[in-house]
Amino acid sequence: MSTPRPTSEFHAPNAPSANVDRLVAALDAQDAADGVRRLRDWAYEAVAARPGEVAVDIGSGTGTVVQALADAVTADGSALGVELNPGLRALAEQRAAEAGSTGRFVEGDALALPLPDASVDIVWCERVLQHLADPERAVGEIARVLKPRGRAVLLDSDWATTVLHPGDPDTVAALTSGALAAAANPYAGRKLVGQLSAAGLAVGARGSQALLQDHNSVAWPLVRMLGESAVRRQLITEVQRDRLYDDLTEAAARGALHMSVTMFGAVGQKSPSAT
Ligand SMILES: C[S@@+](CC[C@H](N)C(=O)[O-])C[C@H]1O[C@@H](n2cnc3c(N)ncnc32)[C@H](O)[C@@H]1O
Repeated sequence: MSTPRPTSEFHAPNAPSANVDRLVAALDAQDAADGVRRLRDWAYEAVAARPGEVAVDIGSGTGTVVQALADAVTADGSALGVELNPGLRALAEQRAAEAGSTGRFVEGDALALPLPDASVDIVWCERVLQHLADPERAVGEIARVLKPRGRAVLLDSDWATTVLHPGDPDTVAALTSGALAAAANPYAGRKLVGQLSAAGLAVGARGSQALLQDHNSVAWPLVRMLGESAVRRQLITEVQRDRLYDDLTEAAARGALHMSVTMFGAVGQKSPSAT
C-alpha cells in the first residue's frame, strides 16, 4: 500500500471542508500572475476554440477559463465547467451570471466525468492533475469524452522546478522537498505528454512558463508553510530555518529575491478515426 501524502486543499477528499474564501483568493492571485496569463494565452491560441464548438473545463475553479471559452465558442456552442467543490462551483456560476457569460457549471469528478463518450470538441484541464493520486484515469476520461479530432489542453506545475534564492542550498533543498510533499502528483508538469500519448491522443503544441513571485517581497505564507514543515520533519533545525528567513528578508529588501516554479502545457488531439 502506498503511503498517503499530505495534500493541498484542492485535493479531492478535502473539497467539502476547504475554506472557499481562501481558495478563491489563491485562484484570483494566480489569475493575475503574468506566468499564468501568458501560458493561458498560448493555450487559447493552441487549442483554437471555434464558434459552435462544445468546450469543457475540468476543475474549473472560479470559472475564469469557462468564461473565456464561452466567448470563443459563442452562443452557437457551449462552455461547461466541471468542478468537485460545491462552493467554488456556486461562486463560478455567480461570477459568470454577473459577467453576462453563457458559461455553465456542474458538480462532477475528473475521475468520472458526467459527460457522454465522444461529446466534446475541447477539454481544458489546468492545475488539476497535480491534485489527483490517479491522474492517468482523469486523462483517460478526457480522451473518452473527446469527439474524433477533439483537442485537449493540459496545463500543470512541476514542483521539482521550484527555485528559491538566496539561502543555504541544503536548507532550500529541504523546503523544496516540502513543496514536493504538498501535492498528490508533484511532478505533474513533466508527465503531461506521456499521459496524452498513453490515452491515445496525438501530442501537438507544447508550452511552458515560469511562475515568478515578486522579487521585492517574500511570499511568507508559502515559505513559512514549507519552512515549518521542514523543521517538523527534522530536515533542518530551527536555527537553519531562521537563517534562511533572514537571508530571504534581506534579499527582498534589496530587490534580489528569486522564487519560481515552472508550469508546462501540452495539447493532445483525438484521431479522426477514433470511435
Ligand atoms: C489549483 S485549482 C485550479 C482551478 C482552475 N483550473 C484554474 O486554473 O484556475 C484545482 C481545481 O481542481 C478542482 N478539483 C480537484 N480535484 C478534482 C476532481 N477530482 N474533479 C474535479 N475537480 C477537482 C479543485 O476544486 C480546484 O477548483
